[in-house]
Amino acid sequence: MDIKDTIDKTKLPEHVAIIMDGNGRWAKERGQLRVFGHRNGVAAVRDTVEGAVEIGIKYLTLYAFSTENWNRPKLEVSALMELLVNTINKETKTLMDNGVKLNAIGNLNQLPTKCFARLNEAMQKTANNTNCTLTLALSYSARWEITEAVRQLAKKVLSGEINPDDIDENQVARHLTTCDIPDPELMIRTSGEQRISNYLLWQLAYAELYFTDKMWPEFRRNDLFEALATYQNRERRFGLTSEQLVKK
Ligand code: FPP
Repeated sequence: MDIKDTIDKTKLPEHVAIIMDGNGRWAKERGQLRVFGHRNGVAAVRDTVEGAVEIGIKYLTLYAFSTENWNRPKLEVSALMELLVNTINKETKTLMDNGVKLNAIGNLNQLPTKCFARLNEAMQKTANNTNCTLTLALSYSARWEITEAVRQLAKKVLSGEINPDDIDENQVARHLTTCDIPDPELMIRTSGEQRISNYLLWQLAYAELYFTDKMWPEFRRNDLFEALATYQNRERRFGLTSEQLVKK
């Protein structure tokens, strides 16, 4: 049976977050430069986005560039930024054909002007699409995001707009870059590494974590379906006991 047919579409996670890892190693194994891996990662992005729409995932978030990635060799950083611009240019049609709305989180002011402009154009063009929201985490790190939220809250307290006692989990969540999207129920990381790497630390509090040895350039929609099937076989207890869940 096709893996896709084993998935219960009424029990899908609403939001899947992915750490696309292993591009560099995949390229090295083939005697190529790291950027060859990033270029081949684009096909994986396209197929995963199409697979997410096909199965009915409403929110997909991809870790495309971390705050720490700025410290990589200059040549790799500029190649990645160029790839991003070219991919956004080329793939806007794929997004439109699939009804995907493009979104971005992170310290976007740090992006090269051209990259920022293309990103904004594509976001505007796809703004009315409703099948799925694709969020690219760019120049993103969760500690940066949480620090920004704390700063904003502190300013609001200082100006008298809010009282410190009013700060609860909802208030904090509303000041994160993901304020418009639900928390991911499933986080996938490729390449065999089992870490969260400063990704959506607040939002992943109750997410199921799924790790696969596949390198990102080889990841395809069937791998996403495999992860979804595994997710559906897990019991999510949110701190309760199995017996309490049966009664609910
Ligand atoms: C991690 O692999 C991957 C990245 C830092 C970049 C991901 C970018 C793409 C897949 C290109 C296109 C993406 C979009 C959204 C247009 P790594 O370099 O850390 O691999 P390694 O761990 O093997 O070194």
